[in-house]
Amino acid sequence: MRSVVLAHQVDFNGWRDAARQLALEGVAPEQVHFSVGAPDDLFAQGGADAAPAAAPSGVFTVSRALMQLAQTVIQANEPERFDLMYGLVWRAHQGERKIAELVTDPAVQRAIRLAQSVRRDTHKMRAFVRFREVPEPDATRYVAWFEPDHFIVEANAEFFVRRFATMIFSILTPYRSVHWTGTALEFGPGADPSQVPDDDALERYWRAYFSAIFNPARLKVSAMTSEMPKKYWRNLPEAAAIPELIRGARERTETMLETPPLAPSESRPRRAPAPPKARESEPVTAGPLAELAHQAAGCRRCPLWEPATQVVFGEGPTDARMMMVGEQPGDQEDLAGRPFVGPAGQLLDRAMREAGIDRAGVYVTNAVKHFKFEPRGKRRIHAKPDLTEIGACSVWLAEERRTVQPALVVMLGATAARAVLGRTVTISRERSTPIALGDTYGANTQGLVTVHPSYLLRLPDEDSRQREYAAFVADLKHALSLVTA
Ligand code: URA
Ligand code: SF4
Repeated sequence: MRSVVLAHQVDFNGWRDAARQLALEGVAPEQVHFSVGAPDDLFAQGGADAAPAAAPSGVFTVSRALMQLAQTVIQANEPERFDLMYGLVWRAHQGERKIAELVTDPAVQRAIRLAQSVRRDTHKMRAFVRFREVPEPDATRYVAWFEPDHFIVEANAEFFVRRFATMIFSILTPYRSVHWTGTALEFGPGADPSQVPDDDALERYWRAYFSAIFNPARLKVSAMTSEMPKKYWRNLPEAAAIPELIRGARERTETMLETPPLAPSESRPRRAPAPPKARESEPVTAGPLAELAHQAAGCRRCPLWEPATQVVFGEGPTDARMMMVGEQPGDQEDLAGRPFVGPAGQLLDRAMREAGIDRAGVYVTNAVKHFKFEPRGKRRIHAKPDLTEIGACSVWLAEERRTVQPALVVMLGATAARAVLGRTVTISRERSTPIALGDTYGANTQGLVTVHPSYLLRLPDEDSRQREYAAFVADLKHALSLVTA
């Protein structure tokens, strides 16, 4: 039996390297067991101890889809996760190339279920982390306590850095703490849940242990180990810094310095996130649109960023011929971070399918990129963005148009039309007739105004719903003909 001891709970690199070597050596999944380093191994460098003296040669290819799945699954609070994923890697290496797509296979199903649970937990963390202000001699630090179900802190650190780049903050969880100094990110040991039952205890706890230790100028492992009772450094990982992340965050800090820093509000009504829905299209993860999305995540041009969970940027191909513009993200979009995934999005998907439009080929976005809402008890009720907000956010829409240069911009409803045309539009008067938008953003673009899918959802009776839905599908067919002509 081979034993692989990984450096910490989310040691993806250690697992991947070991998996690669084991597969090349022909070590079957039954002959190997992965585990995470015991407390006494804490300061052993590196992860896997399975490395043979000479690395075996041979070709090792597993699909990107499988590696992406593994990256999520290894965050799951499930001791067998590394073994499970090695089993899948082994089978991929044996020739089952598309194993990640075998959604009826029991092992694949288990992995997918774990990944879903990790994603739900991720949404929860993003929506529910609450900071408490703790004044310190030279700055105010914001400290939050959160108990995730899974090992998701490392993967989410970037999100919080982007969102709160100008603040000095710490998030403590039972297995890991993360600290943003304003310029650098540090990971540290977990905190003891029994000592932080409430906000006041959190503050005391912070003062007693963390604030002394996580002064970035004084960050030393030796200090940590001598000043902290052993039980608190059970899972102490290497103090990891992610260069890419820090670079991005630093740029953000510079942009943010132009605007005064704002503290997160004390409490925000949020509702539990719905399970993420499987979607065919994926968010853009590289290139100029990803860069724009990244910048927009730090946008403070209007106040809507603050109570929202995250920016919801547009998504779709950079060379899409058609751009579809909605109003603003809704409750579900705000939690998922993706446009048109809630009820209006589902109706839009259906109408697009019926019109023969492949959504994956369309760039879908909104006039306003942050969710505007009124808290009503535990619910968040959609509120209309005003002209100032639409105007402030139009810089992002302009950048999207400059980048994508679509042949046609479909405006869904009055807010989209306002944002694109820069004037008040009466939908009933101007819908269905192409409007020349000129070539300000590069391409010579046409516009087409139609209703917003939410309007269809609000219609009171079945007859008008059917009639209006048919007219909406007809507009979309018209849109398709304008880009295929
Ligand atoms: N409504 C919109 O306008 N946009 C979305 O992304 C979702 C609902
Ligand atoms: Fe910036 Fe738009 Fe968000 Fe306002 S709504 S903060 S302008 S991205």
